[in-house]
Amino acid sequence: MIPDLSQIKSDPEIATLMAMAEAQIKALQFTEHSKRHAGIVSKWAGDILRGLNADEERIRLAEIAGYLHDIGNCVNREGHAQSGAILAYHTLCRIGMDTPHATEVMMAIGNHDEKYGTPVSDISSALIIADKADVHKSRVKKTIEDVMKANIHDRVNLAAEKSYLTVQREEAAIALHIEIDTDVCSVMDYFEIYFNRMQMCRKAAEFLHCRFSLNINGTKLV
Ligand SMILES: [Fe+2]
Ligand SMILES: [Fe+2]
Repeated sequence: MIPDLSQIKSDPEIATLMAMAEAQIKALQFTEHSKRHAGIVSKWAGDILRGLNADEERIRLAEIAGYLHDIGNCVNREGHAQSGAILAYHTLCRIGMDTPHATEVMMAIGNHDEKYGTPVSDISSALIIADKADVHKSRVKKTIEDVMKANIHDRVNLAAEKSYLTVQREEAAIALHIEIDTDVCSVMDYFEIYFNRMQMCRKAAEFLHCRFSLNINGTKLV
């Protein structure tokens, strides 16, 4: 059995874990990892597989993995993919998801972070691309003055006016489109921060038998 996403979203235990994850990220002054990010990654992970004509079951599992992928931030930012994978597995089993499907979600979540993760399934690959694609200025929670002084990660997010994915099944192509304000961050700043993430997206797209491309301000860069 695969629970509805709405059931997962309204589960009190999951809501508590996600609220504490958000609180910890806020305390660390990291970029936003709230329900907004969870919701976007869930939708985009499902959209990627839908765009590639995957079975409805795979799409639903990707949406669930996307919604829960950062739940481990309630334990510690370090190792959040692995701790979150175990938390998600146990909560999904409690809700009634069968072991093979809960294991698939666990595996995808445990591999979503660029530090130790690898695309290991269609769900994992869709989750990786969806997660890395969410770059937006609304995710920066510091003042503009503080951001401009120090943190390149925040500056890159702050520069991003818009980001979205396109999936072209006939061309076997997945593209990430980002519009950045080059007064806030240069394209080189973006590359410095996102090089590892874009490489991971490329591997994830290859797992899905697609090419990955990055377009910034309408220019195809990779
Ligand atoms: Fe994460
Ligand atoms: Fe994330």
